[in-house]
Amino acid sequence: MPSCDTLILNASVLDGTDAAPEIFDVALDGDRICNVGPSLEYRARVTVDATGLALSPGFIDVHTHDDTSVIRSPAMLPKLSQGVTTVIVGNCGISASPVRLRGEPPDPMNLLGDAAAFCYPTFAAYVAAVSDARPAVNVGALVGHTSLRNNHMDRLDRTATGAEIGAMCAQLQEALDGGALGLSSGLAYLSANAASTEEVVELAQPLAAAHAVYTTHLRSETEAILDAMSEAFEVGRLNQVPVIVSHLKCAGIANWGRSGEVLSALETARGSQRTGCDCYPYAAGSSTLDLRQVDERVELTITWSTPHPEMAGQSLAQIADAWSVTQMDAARMLQPAGAIYHSISEQDMRRILCHPATMIGSDGLPNDPRPHPRLWGTFPRVLGRYSREEKLLSLPEAVHKMTQMPAQRFGLAERGLIRPGYFADLVLFDPEEIIDKATFADPIRPSEGIAGVWVNGVLSYTAEGARENRGGRFLPRGKTTWIQ
Ligand code: ZN
Ligand code: CU
Repeated sequence: MPSCDTLILNASVLDGTDAAPEIFDVALDGDRICNVGPSLEYRARVTVDATGLALSPGFIDVHTHDDTSVIRSPAMLPKLSQGVTTVIVGNCGISASPVRLRGEPPDPMNLLGDAAAFCYPTFAAYVAAVSDARPAVNVGALVGHTSLRNNHMDRLDRTATGAEIGAMCAQLQEALDGGALGLSSGLAYLSANAASTEEVVELAQPLAAAHAVYTTHLRSETEAILDAMSEAFEVGRLNQVPVIVSHLKCAGIANWGRSGEVLSALETARGSQRTGCDCYPYAAGSSTLDLRQVDERVELTITWSTPHPEMAGQSLAQIADAWSVTQMDAARMLQPAGAIYHSISEQDMRRILCHPATMIGSDGLPNDPRPHPRLWGTFPRVLGRYSREEKLLSLPEAVHKMTQMPAQRFGLAERGLIRPGYFADLVLFDPEEIIDKATFADPIRPSEGIAGVWVNGVLSYTAEGARENRGGRFLPRGKTTWIQ
């Protein structure tokens, strides 16, 4: 009888494609899956009875700001406890590397930490730091446009010169050579908003030869969203690179009900170029406090404030009341600060979430003392609330959006499927019980229903909680195999 490290018996295997589950045994040896099938015969060091449980590839959180957390808090409990085995960092134009600061990090780079957190002047230095930290989850990294701008420009309220774009390109190329997955932008933020489309088009040039992707927090998620999408698609089209629209949403009350229009624009683009999006399963966004998004009709909760840390968790309306000022004035007094904006319609979010082009990304903000619940709840919420309870999408579809689809799009080689030879990133969960527990009122709570999480074959989490062993690695870019 052959031997293996771990034999998982009688699991309902959701293999990462959107195929219906089948009851199989799965054998793991070292960091790989060595066999999948009915009634496997192995002499295993550990046997797990998975009767009644679902086994899927570990979830890939395609949209994170975990750049510095994977190093400073390598246990990565907010993600591991959801069944996430890989995080993609560096989204929204802000990456921790390559960064050389002069002074404080500009908004929204400050979401990743204070100046001391930015100690990776090269992409290689960041890769080495991730490898040394050995986080509990794998890490793939994008390079942020805003980070590059801040490295090479004296001020961010203008477009870059040809020479500056050249310097940014060279730094991007160096990161791509070191395994970066692609380039991200955050054109809505004032630190990148003055960048012309041409600046981004030129900067994205090295991506094609590297088979890397362009992800973007659109220039507008409100009234001008369709123009912003056209701009994103143009960057992809002119460079022949795939485009991933980050946290696709229709933000702001004036914009509610436009998800149909937005998705049909996405579908039209998909007819001629590789493009898709990610989405988090909540009707509220979160970022730094943006005065342009202060709207008395929208509930806004403060998540942190440098001058007024005691206000974290309070609504802007309450604070304005207590201070007897307008919400706008209160917002000015709180800055720099972070906020949760209840500015998305549930209907629009649902429609985007279950669209076949959509992957799941938490956009969680791990440095917030009172984070948006998406940090701890995104993946079990999609599986428990939106798939099981509301039947918005089937369980295999939901799992596919979290596994094979992102692995193919971002070029995460030999991940995202349960196949012999693939890496043993796996999550065992109870499909009848899995659910998020984090709420806006009580956001730091692990989900329920996760029975086991393996990362590169290392059992890292069980129903009892995190285990001591951590198995995460830095994942260099592999070959993208984009399937629309
Ligand atoms: Zn963003
Ligand atoms: Cu983001």
